[in-house]
Amino acid sequence: MKISVKNLEIAKHKTDCHVVAIYQGNKLTDSAKQLDIATNGYLKSLLKRGDIDGKLNQTLLLHDVEGLVAKRILLVGCGKAKDLTANQFRNLVTLVSTELNKYKLKDAAFYLSDIELKDTDLAWKIKQISQGITQNLYRYHKTVSKNNEKPSLRRVVIHAQKESAQSNKAAKIGQAVANGMAVTRELGNLPGNICTPSYLASEAKKIGRQYGIKVSVLNEKQMETLKMGSLLSVSRGSRQPAKLIVFEYKGATKPGNPIALVGKGVTFDSGGISIKPGAAMDEMKFDMCGAASVFGVMRSLGELKPKINVIGVVGATENLPDGLATKPGDVVTSMSGQTIEVLNTDAEGRLVLCDALTYTEKFKPKAVIDIATLTGACVIALGKQGAGLLGNDQKLIDKLLTAGQNAADRAWQLPLWDEYQEQIKSNFADMANIGGREAGTITAACFLSRFAKKFKWAHLDIAGVAWESGANKGATGRPVPLLMEYILSEAGR
Ligand code: BES
Ligand code: MN
Ligand code: ZN
Repeated sequence: MKISVKNLEIAKHKTDCHVVAIYQGNKLTDSAKQLDIATNGYLKSLLKRGDIDGKLNQTLLLHDVEGLVAKRILLVGCGKAKDLTANQFRNLVTLVSTELNKYKLKDAAFYLSDIELKDTDLAWKIKQISQGITQNLYRYHKTVSKNNEKPSLRRVVIHAQKESAQSNKAAKIGQAVANGMAVTRELGNLPGNICTPSYLASEAKKIGRQYGIKVSVLNEKQMETLKMGSLLSVSRGSRQPAKLIVFEYKGATKPGNPIALVGKGVTFDSGGISIKPGAAMDEMKFDMCGAASVFGVMRSLGELKPKINVIGVVGATENLPDGLATKPGDVVTSMSGQTIEVLNTDAEGRLVLCDALTYTEKFKPKAVIDIATLTGACVIALGKQGAGLLGNDQKLIDKLLTAGQNAADRAWQLPLWDEYQEQIKSNFADMANIGGREAGTITAACFLSRFAKKFKWAHLDIAGVAWESGANKGATGRPVPLLMEYILSEAGR
């Protein structure tokens, strides 16, 4: 897909389709005004006739309109001026892209960047348009034999009243973020019998080769040497060997001080001996979406090459029951030396992450963010709208909250008060791996906090946002937009 930014003259630009927004009420967007002038008042007369009145998400396709060299115009309603929200704007882009592909159009000119939208600037809109169009190209094919539908769209020009280096950069970023999200979605969507820890390891190497990112993979023996008894206690019940995957993206002019991303990569979570009920258990193939978001970020970084160092550490394993599997009541020793009583083998994500966090210390990171589909409780608390966010450094948390807000990929902070630590006390080890029914997302973070004492740390619980269920079942690619927004702002664009 080729996406560029230009100050277009609507009458003279040749394209399969102009995409122009229409407000509800009498106000016209600047492009709609230009269109009306170029077509000798055709647009206004059409609006008067009432075939389209600008209601949000209305569309109308027009052919061979006199006064233009383009073949078509797709009018799209964006509601009342200034009422539009960021999410509605993004949905408009998706809707339009779907429509263009439906008509098998190859190229289009988007004029949606002149829609008025609170708290956003031109660059933001261009980034979202570029990201939305690219996101909409993703299709899952791998295990579906008769699914050959390919999107038709090849070239898009985004109209910008002011064409600048900044607006071009915004389009590039949007595209790179969406390309990263596609990696995340694909890995998430792949079934557990294909996307195993070893598969993740080989995909990591592929990304490493493609973008010149250093990738190393530790096997179980090497993890034993490092005394990662907690992570390995999860893979004991599985015939697929666990892997610790490490990305080192070095974009800064000087070495050191990286941001570290730590991903939960449970390629299938049956619950282990504390086995889960059958309903929707298939969705536990998505339990590696935190890891997949690290892969997605690496893909985006590889494309954009920002001047910053970023480490990715992924703990990859299956969680299955077996004669050798860890049992409730077993006590394991983590790499940090702290002991853990495993009261529930289904609270396995934290067991994987704690050793991955300790391993990350060696990079002397300036900030560590772990990303995990960690608790069902987070889905109950926040639903599908936002990721849970907790940590030990308010400045880092604030940066991530802002990044999420700016990227329309929101997170919401939950408290990590000391009192909650009581809930994970154990009579037989330094801590238990569960803290009872109350505040499940918080006690999970309490557990992790004990392995994050040596750095600034934040935890993103993405259990609610990483995938959709039902008819649109599939990985979403979140929170790649949030993470990229944060990393790019740290890199100082
Ligand atoms: N991967 C699950 C969390 C999860 C469940 C995410 C459902 C999305 C939807 C995690 O490993 C898990 O099983 N957590 C348990 C923890 C409990 C045993 C303390 C949970 O949330 O039920
Ligand atoms: Mn589990
Ligand atoms: Zn899990």
